[in-house]
Amino acid sequence: MFITFEGPDGSGKSTIINLVSEKLKELNYDIVQTREPGGTRISEKLRDIILDRENTELTARTEALLYAAARAQHVEEFIVPNLNSGKIVLSDRYVLSSLAYQGAGRELGIESISEINKFATNNLEPDLILFFKVDPLTTLKRKNKLDTADRLELEKESFHSRVYNGYISIINKYKNNNNFVEVDATKTIEEVLEFSLYVILKSIRG
Ligand code: TYD
Repeated sequence: MFITFEGPDGSGKSTIINLVSEKLKELNYDIVQTREPGGTRISEKLRDIILDRENTELTARTEALLYAAARAQHVEEFIVPNLNSGKIVLSDRYVLSSLAYQGAGRELGIESISEINKFATNNLEPDLILFFKVDPLTTLKRKNKLDTADRLELEKESFHSRVYNGYISIINKYKNNNNFVEVDATKTIEEVLEFSLYVILKSIRG
């Protein structure tokens, strides 16, 4: 079972994925937790290039291809072998991030980003996508960490609102899919955790 956590920067999904992992381990589920960009030695190297604040000349198309390249390595080297050995794989971000950030945020178009990602992932789709929905104003209030911000986080507000609007228009298409669940991420950590666990356990137990 392949479960991905998606949402804008500052949506709290990284905190929640850690707590969900702990809880599932306590319940004796065989899980592995990973993240994108990253998750393998080579993908983490690509992550460093992508997020390096000094790489100001990185073009939008290069960025999109680097995310896809990091993902291709991650899928083939890590995600698929773990799924094949019966593990539950939890990933902090996956293809939906590229559709929102590169497709909408960088204005490269959701269709073309979708195409390169189908190639990169060899069409591997999550069994469950949790989307942590929170508006840009709330995330802005939550984040006060500009000196540690990476290259993407340093982007202008207009970029982040395009990303948010991108997410919303993409998920409107996904809404009726039974592998897609929206989580109200403006709530407290406890509430978000409880709902996320409920959804995941329901899905695991079928
Ligand atoms: P992430 O590790 O979630 O950020 P952090 O842990 O610092 O909160 O992701 C790093 C950045 O990369 C984030 O701003 C979102 C962006 N991103 C994309 O633009 N496209 C992608 O495909 C992915 C996976 C992430």
